[in-house]
Amino acid sequence: MCGIVGYTGHRAAAPLIMDGLKRLEYRGYDSAGLAVVLDGRLEIDKAAGKLAVLASRLPTDGHTGTLALGHTRWATHGAPNDVNAHPHTDTDGTIAVVHNGIIENAAALRAWLSERGCRFRSETDTEVLAHLISELYTDSLEAAVAEALRRVEGTYGLGVISTHEPNTLVAARLGSPLLLALGDGENFIASDAAAVVEHTRSVVYLDDGEVAVLTPDNYHIVDLDKTRVEKTVSVVDWDLETIERGGHAHFMIKEILEQPEAITNTMRGRLLEEEGTARLGGIDMTDEQLLEIDRVVLTACGTSWHAALIGEYMLEELARIPAEVEYASEFRYREPLVDSRTLVIGLSQSGETADTLAALREAKKRGARTLGIVNSVGSTIAREVDGGTYIHAGPEIGVASTKAFTCQVVALALLTLRLGRLRTMSLLQGRKMVKALRRLPQQVRQVLGHSKEIEKLADTYALAQNALFLGRGYNFPVALEGALKLKEISYIHAEGYPAAEMKHGPIALIDEMMPVICVAPSDAVYQKIVSNVQEVKARRARIFAVVTEGEEEITSLADQTVTIPKTIDCLTPVLSVIPLQLLAYHVAVRRGCDVDQPRNLAKSVTVE
Ligand code: G6P
Repeated sequence: MCGIVGYTGHRAAAPLIMDGLKRLEYRGYDSAGLAVVLDGRLEIDKAAGKLAVLASRLPTDGHTGTLALGHTRWATHGAPNDVNAHPHTDTDGTIAVVHNGIIENAAALRAWLSERGCRFRSETDTEVLAHLISELYTDSLEAAVAEALRRVEGTYGLGVISTHEPNTLVAARLGSPLLLALGDGENFIASDAAAVVEHTRSVVYLDDGEVAVLTPDNYHIVDLDKTRVEKTVSVVDWDLETIERGGHAHFMIKEILEQPEAITNTMRGRLLEEEGTARLGGIDMTDEQLLEIDRVVLTACGTSWHAALIGEYMLEELARIPAEVEYASEFRYREPLVDSRTLVIGLSQSGETADTLAALREAKKRGARTLGIVNSVGSTIAREVDGGTYIHAGPEIGVASTKAFTCQVVALALLTLRLGRLRTMSLLQGRKMVKALRRLPQQVRQVLGHSKEIEKLADTYALAQNALFLGRGYNFPVALEGALKLKEISYIHAEGYPAAEMKHGPIALIDEMMPVICVAPSDAVYQKIVSNVQEVKARRARIFAVVTEGEEEITSLADQTVTIPKTIDCLTPVLSVIPLQLLAYHVAVRRGCDVDQPRNLAKSVTVE
């Protein structure tokens, strides 16, 4: 997501920070900034857009200060503009802060700090930290940061510098990665080793709840209770390219493995367990307005369209609102029937897909209220819709979408909760759904634990010419998504079908050469899909099934199975899609395909 680089030493810091930030560009960002301590002042330069824009704003003779912090921001709170870019400072410009993560109690802290006379300039949660640290500063930056963090709820990877201590760099971590890099007469902090590895390979990885204090020749680490922590120094021996992918061979597998964290971020601060509902401030609609809606249309392309299908099932079953899904490219040209009581929801990872954008514009023109379920903050769709929900999945770089899909499904579950609880969903049902959502990240982790088994399977599937994916109910869209993943990156022809509909055509294709992948968790339609799997088995197909732990019937029919933990029906897609993502990935690797940039495909399709 965002990137952090900090430096304290004997060299001019600005160029080192800019080089470091460049190394983090692959993570995706939408604005950048730099703070340098120079002659007792903080020089701050910030710019929306790419690093080149920031570079063009720096003085041509460079900053000569030897203490600095830099940041690339991928917007979460507030649009990606100059003001919201990091670093943020306190009112008097004595403290500068860069931050990755989300401060959940930012609103309460902001109110408290404003009452004490702090002047806020940005919409970010991060600015709260700069003011808070400044308020608590007496004679030690280390103590002020530790005290501030005791009052903060949320997650952070944090870098702080101050004019009061012109050699000191303070860093802290809770849930967002940060490391110290130790040089000769100079030390760095970075959110990722890629930013510093050209200067030193000796690093100390911070753990959650630790605060580090660095000067050019020394460093020490304490916990929030000020107790010293001794850490081992590790040596980074990866090449740069591998580091940027966090040690993984491809972005796609990195992103598949990031799903527990990404889903946690989608839900952060939004689940209301007591009330059995979800808080979605961004949709910007009152209960009355939400109750006026008599129909929902979900529109999207590609993987986002598959997530929309799951949303349709959820909204109809659990919120009892008529819902339908439209390919954005079709919707935009077919004189759609929508009015002010229709809620048109556009789903898009990039927020820039031309057809989805056009479909939303068309809906708006016809008087519908529009919402976006989007990953990229500040993207065109996010800006143009009447309201929306960011999924906060973090940058997705692999062309084949993975973590955005599961996060979109989670966001749709939150919306279903919000709309359902206003209508027919009982408090008990709502609470049950909130509990099931809370368990999801850990359950996703469990499914990811099967990666090695699936990797072994890939040897067989890599030889296939075709594959058929079957599912029913909530898992029919998962079958579509599994097929899409496989064809996108391995170029194996694959089709997804509703398991029962298979009898009306595709069954003609089935023989021992046709692998059939059955997505069959224990849910309301489980017994129905058992019969479909028998039909497939009778035609001698090789069957790989995704089933719920403890299930026996399909396991005894299938050649291979992978299990997922039990959850409520509407959330099974979040778990059942993961083995299919892993299968597609490992098959594509076996076939020697360009996994992250498959032929003919683009990550963001901004043309019709
Ligand atoms: C492209 C990508 C797909 C993506 C689709 C929709 O085709 O290759 O992975 O699902 O666009 O993108 P969006 O950014 O709108 O979700």
